[in-house]
Amino acid sequence: MTTVREFHRRSIADRDGFWREEARRIDWHKPFSQVLDYSRPPFAKWFVGGETNLCHNAVDRHLAARGDQTALVWISTEVDQVKSYSYRELHREVNRVAAMMQSLGVKRGDRVIVYMPMIPESCFAILACARIGAVHSVVFGGFAAASLAARIDDAKPSLMITADGGSRMGKAILYKNLVDDSIRLAKFPPRKVLIFRRGLDADMPHVPERDVDWAEFASKQKAADVPCAWLESNEPSYILYTSGTTGKPKGVQRDVGGYAVALAASMKHIYCGDAGETMFTTSDIGWVVGHSYIIYAPLIAGMTTIMYEGVPIRPDAGVWWKIVQDYRVSVMFSAPTAIRVLKKQDPAFLRKYDLSSLRHLFLAGEPLDEPTHVWIQEALGRPVVDHYWQTETGWPILSAMPGVEKTPNKFGSPSFPVYGYDLQLLRESDASEAGADEKAVVAVVPPLPPGCMSTIWGDDERFVKTYFSTFSKKLVYTTFDWGIRDKDGYYFILGRTDDVINVAGHRLGTREIEEAVSMHPNIAECAVVGVADELKGQMPLAFAVAKDTSLLGTEKGKKDLEREVMETVDRQLGAIGRPRAVHFVTLLPKTRSGKTLRRSIAALAEGRDPGDLTTIEDPAAHKQIKDRLGLK
Ligand code: PRX
Repeated sequence: MTTVREFHRRSIADRDGFWREEARRIDWHKPFSQVLDYSRPPFAKWFVGGETNLCHNAVDRHLAARGDQTALVWISTEVDQVKSYSYRELHREVNRVAAMMQSLGVKRGDRVIVYMPMIPESCFAILACARIGAVHSVVFGGFAAASLAARIDDAKPSLMITADGGSRMGKAILYKNLVDDSIRLAKFPPRKVLIFRRGLDADMPHVPERDVDWAEFASKQKAADVPCAWLESNEPSYILYTSGTTGKPKGVQRDVGGYAVALAASMKHIYCGDAGETMFTTSDIGWVVGHSYIIYAPLIAGMTTIMYEGVPIRPDAGVWWKIVQDYRVSVMFSAPTAIRVLKKQDPAFLRKYDLSSLRHLFLAGEPLDEPTHVWIQEALGRPVVDHYWQTETGWPILSAMPGVEKTPNKFGSPSFPVYGYDLQLLRESDASEAGADEKAVVAVVPPLPPGCMSTIWGDDERFVKTYFSTFSKKLVYTTFDWGIRDKDGYYFILGRTDDVINVAGHRLGTREIEEAVSMHPNIAECAVVGVADELKGQMPLAFAVAKDTSLLGTEKGKKDLEREVMETVDRQLGAIGRPRAVHFVTLLPKTRSGKTLRRSIAALAEGRDPGDLTTIEDPAAHKQIKDRLGLK
């Protein structure tokens, strides 16, 4: 058995050899002629000339050996239903949707937006896109019509797939109305909308010619058999929009072959999930964790994957542990916020079930605080692995790799750089490498390993400018995270270097929230910052300048406008972006060149030292922020 250090060293020193071996974990219809083409930095092409298909690797190739094994279990504590699909049944369902998509005119390379709740049909739709070579773009169901419209206009889909609604805490959330609104707002609407009716919206509107009913259409496709399209390894598989510094989300584009290999390798070396076992990832298909570890990776590995619709504490705080027991889950993946929610409940729920099948619990998406890490690891009596990655990378950057070597955990640390990533901690001032215990920018020397984003959809220039231009002296990928390495080589992530915040593991741009706040007709300008929150990690907090201040003289006037602004955010962006509070000021702290001093506002709101304020144009602005926060 090798060590993590040696494994990592080889992955960088002998990239070709290392990834050539890993590439054997998946099926290739046509072998690749070159492992890596890096002739146009920073664009990396992996497994050039090879032809494969994600759906084939996730579904078809298992039919011979495990056709009757369960591939997908859907558990909904929202509508009290459980459904299981064997690999053979999954194959049939995916074929049927692929045939429906083709009848609706979807061709290889076309984009399909999937805006769906956590139901099996969303998994079928995603895999069907992969099957025919259509590029899926899944949009998280919590995003509102305007956000959805912006993604439609960027992806220009030929088809949208949705459902009548989702459910949260027993309350129906209507999707179709929102889709109709987004299509009205969009400049490049899809020709067709395929709708799966769950019976959650009896009055669902129907647009003739455009709307297609899933069940009715599916009944005509029963015997469908749609062959997998063999795609060159570097063709796009999907686009997933994520937040950054600007108000315009970036379409992270992923390839086919590199992604399949990276996921297959991660199941072996990091997650330790074997064919025939069960993986339970508690994320949503709208996020990268859902793409990689609810759908593709466990299926590529021949596992049973669990898709869960519901919250962790309904009907009670034992619901997830009961699932672990009942389905003999060996790999579980969740987010720190969910564990903090569970920590507030009676710990007896954790002792009630037989968790002997569980090997590891993986947590990612936001910082894992030490008390939560200690609590859950002690309660489970299993290693709880904090690991760090991003939508952009698609799989872990920093992690323990128990499939390679069992290394001890350090609380608060996502351990070590994962094989394939030439990770460096760089000083912001001159891109030189930081020493032990020195805070610096987490960067990756390109080429990025297989599975990471290939580019920003439709915008190579923005890809290079956004991710590779932080340091003029060095071509490196910046993660936009601060990090530190201790003398034992363990890494710690210390938060973002940009204006991205993380609310309950949901990544949001403060600029996006500011744009949503500014859609209220009475808001002239605003600043949104992320402030620490005990449960959700961070929460947005808004400071806004009103155009007409005549009604702000009373508490009621302020409360009314605050509520209206929050409703505007709900409508524009979605309730996940709703600020914890909106404070009204008459001016914002800015530099003389007009840059809003968000970092100092955030520091004040968290009771930290706001830093150097000599660049502030008008100190009165700063005083107003302090007044609103009740600070002296
Ligand atoms: O700031 C880091 C934080 O989440 C960001 C990426 O979020 P997203 O694109 O939604 O991808 C999540 C994939 C798991 C990172 O830039 N982050 C993620 N994991 C951790 C983390 N911060 C601290 N510790 C982590 N383990």
